[in-house]
Amino acid sequence: MSILMPADGPMKSLTGRAPSTAPADKHERGLRIAIPEPDLELAQDEEWFVVQVDGNEWQEVQVQDYAALYTTPGLYERVVYDLFACRSPMTIRTMLEAELQRRKVSGEELSVLDLGAGNGAVGEEVADLGARHIVGIDILPQAAVAAWRDRPGIYSAYFTADITRLSERERAALNLFDFNCLTCVAALGFGDIPPRAFATAFNLIVPEGIVAFTIKEDFLGRQDRSGFARLIERATAEGVFEVSMKKRYQHRLATNGEPLYYAALIATKHKNIGPNLLSQG
Ligand SMILES: C[S@@+](CC[C@H](N)C(=O)[O-])C[C@H]1O[C@@H](n2cnc3c(N)ncnc32)[C@H](O)[C@@H]1O
Repeated sequence: MSILMPADGPMKSLTGRAPSTAPADKHERGLRIAIPEPDLELAQDEEWFVVQVDGNEWQEVQVQDYAALYTTPGLYERVVYDLFACRSPMTIRTMLEAELQRRKVSGEELSVLDLGAGNGAVGEEVADLGARHIVGIDILPQAAVAAWRDRPGIYSAYFTADITRLSERERAALNLFDFNCLTCVAALGFGDIPPRAFATAFNLIVPEGIVAFTIKEDFLGRQDRSGFARLIERATAEGVFEVSMKKRYQHRLATNGEPLYYAALIATKHKNIGPNLLSQG
């Protein structure tokens, strides 16, 4: 299934509002949130908090239960940005801006595919750079609904789809945008976007396009089991892409207040990722 959201006129810029936390302001009043004791050691994909909405029963929510986070207006911003001080969309925006300067091109030339777009925090940053088109894709229907609710007009279109199982119609619709930039922020690894899905999105970008993504630094290390360390190493060695910027940064705080470090990368795509790069051999 796909949901297409036509932009109402030219891309809107939200300059002048606090980035990323802005939509929470109009929604968050009825939210009360509590996080576990700091001495409770939780793996990143096991973190939880409790929330009370409009005086109703307190509920436990997993931090990575994005469907739940998007469904309650303002909850994602309140938890991820206000409580856990997430810096990922802002970090990728700053690096993308530097890449545009390096290439001496204007943000208006960007046609962006935002993979794992969620409720549009990255789209908002890229819109601020003046991008011509931003198209979101996310596997969760709740993400498209939340993006439309929280940041109307940011995306030219938004697809609810598993990118590895696109229909002919969806693929044709995506190809119409002649994407020259892929963004994928805080969505790789864990149970989220696997290497094959990233590769499919990568292959929708034109040669010499920009690939801007963030990934937990453990997924780039020798112990990685997600498949990303191997994919990136092989793709670099075979000249599939060339990394022009790489930065270690604090993605967000964990529920115990410890920083979680990610890597943000800007690369130039030279050619498609072939099946040989995804094989285990
Ligand atoms: C941590 S959120 C990040 C959202 C957004 N990029 C941001 O920075 O605000 C990860 C997103 O990836 C999406 N996701 C996970 N697996 C996916 C897949 N296979 N295809 C597309 N999106 C996926 C989730 O639904 C979720 O919205």
